[in-house]
Amino acid sequence: MDHAGVDRQSIDKLVREFYARVRNDERLGPIFDREISSDWKPHLEKMTDFWCSVILKSGDYHGRPVPAHTKLQGVTEADFEIWQALFATTAAELFAPDTAAVFVARAERIAKSLRLAMFFRLGPPDVGQRHPGDGAL
Ligand code: HEM
Repeated sequence: MDHAGVDRQSIDKLVREFYARVRNDERLGPIFDREISSDWKPHLEKMTDFWCSVILKSGDYHGRPVPAHTKLQGVTEADFEIWQALFATTAAELFAPDTAAVFVARAERIAKSLRLAMFFRLGPPDVGQRHPGDGAL
């Protein structure tokens, strides 16, 4: 895809606008405020690096998203729905529809793997099938 109009500056704008909305959200705001109590600047820089790496293949981001999320307390699947809706609205306001769709598709794929890491639990181990004639038990 041709990323016309997408550069670090426009990605930075998306990141700032998106996290301003996140901070104002009654569910997401407190979750972020607990983790990022005072200085948002490093988080915003990191997220701009992240999205530049994802969309522009800039290689700027070297973090590990899964442990950053599995350690969070009290996040639910419903919170991800809010995150994804806010992200989609913000991207649609700042980019042309085709470009916004690329951001949203990438966000959804990453959200899916984060959700799997955070919420998917295997049930108790299967003790094995019992067959007639197996004897006691
Ligand atoms: C309800 C959904 C989400 C919540 C509540 C959430 C919350 C957070 C918080 C609090 C941090 C900061 C952790 C820290 O600084 O130690 C963080 C970091 C981060 N988040 Fe999320 N997040 C959510 C969804 C997503 C999604 C869908 C993506 C990607 C599309 C994402 C990408 C990242 C990245 C790249 C970092 C930086 C990780 C690092 O390298 O330290 N997050 N998130």
